[in-house]
Amino acid sequence: MKLANCHNIADLRKAAKSRLPAPMFHYIDGGSDDEWTLKNNTRAFDKYELTPKVLKNVETIDLKTKILGTEIDLPFFLSPTGMSRLFNHEKEIAVAKAAEKFGTAYSLSTLGTTSLEDIAETVKTPKIFQLYILKDRGLTKEFVDRCKAAGYTALALTVDMPVAGNRERDYRTGMVMPPKFGLKSLTSFAMHPHWSLNFMLNPNFTLANVAHRVDALGGGAMGLIDYVNSQFDRTVNWDDAEWLIKQWDGPFIIKGLQHPEDAKRARDIGATALMISNHGGRQMDGAPAPIDCVKAIRDAIDRDLELIVDGGIRRGSHVLKAIREGADACSVGRAYLYGLAAGGQKGVERALTLLKSEIERNMALMGANRINDLI
Ligand code: FNR
Repeated sequence: MKLANCHNIADLRKAAKSRLPAPMFHYIDGGSDDEWTLKNNTRAFDKYELTPKVLKNVETIDLKTKILGTEIDLPFFLSPTGMSRLFNHEKEIAVAKAAEKFGTAYSLSTLGTTSLEDIAETVKTPKIFQLYILKDRGLTKEFVDRCKAAGYTALALTVDMPVAGNRERDYRTGMVMPPKFGLKSLTSFAMHPHWSLNFMLNPNFTLANVAHRVDALGGGAMGLIDYVNSQFDRTVNWDDAEWLIKQWDGPFIIKGLQHPEDAKRARDIGATALMISNHGGRQMDGAPAPIDCVKAIRDAIDRDLELIVDGGIRRGSHVLKAIREGADACSVGRAYLYGLAAGGQKGVERALTLLKSEIERNMALMGANRINDLI
């Protein structure tokens, strides 16, 4: 399926499915347990309407949005997703360059396969680094210092992963990192020779931001994954988050909140923005859809914090619905990952083009010239 024949994010998903071996595709596409939350994240948008206002001059549509003390050209940006090398050898660099082309922010995951310094050298648009508070607090503090030195706009602390979600598709497909030609996945690799050949020619699957920590311990590739898994810390609490906010002393997002009481707590410890998120349905199955949490959280914190809706966004109209509910902006994960898998940087650009044009067209249909007109 050619990118030009992909007319929406669902088409890009199909293209990604045909290009990727099963373990990689399902790693992007899947969620936890019964995947109720995964499905509900998108389905929940169906309950909201966008009532058009007519006979307005909509010759110009301006999508500029202020967030995290900066301005971006779109009302959405790109969420952090780990291990992009699994999906395309152009990996995180391709996504960051596409974001820059569209004037929006890119978020790099701690578990990225590109270093935070390489991203900073490649793109000048706003950059967010996503991190966890790890058992190795020295590494967490090191990220703060490296992000300051590299000129990152904001940090995003992910708080919905005290333990890893139960992703059953990964057990079934034999997904491991770095990929292995195991019994379960062999047929699928054989059926995707383009991906498999590329994998053998460009085997750069390092978790670039944490690898040095393990190398110091003398570990190999599997040692790295063991190291990462051993680093999730169930004891992390609000005091730790407050400590990190103080260390950074700049725009700070707490990612993975859904409860109004938690939103108030985040405000009290000095966060700048909240990403209302359930990790794209990959953590707690049963968690509500982010769009359904906006109103209660906005009521709880008024305009004290910026609100970003993250989860289930597959259409421009979803972004508009989130803003109508009270969000300042949105962010997307799978929408651009399907594009990355379907065609590297060009595929991510296709995803952004589709979402942007859907937003522009719908704003014209709603009689809104700028994002603030939606509020
Ligand atoms: C993620 N997400 C994620 N979040 C995070 O804070 N750190 C991470 O490393 C990752 N990794 C990751 C990998 C993959 C393959 C996916 C699909 C997601 C969650 C991500 O930031 C975001 O919250 C969701 O993707 C939003 O939901 P949608 O847009 O994918 O529906």
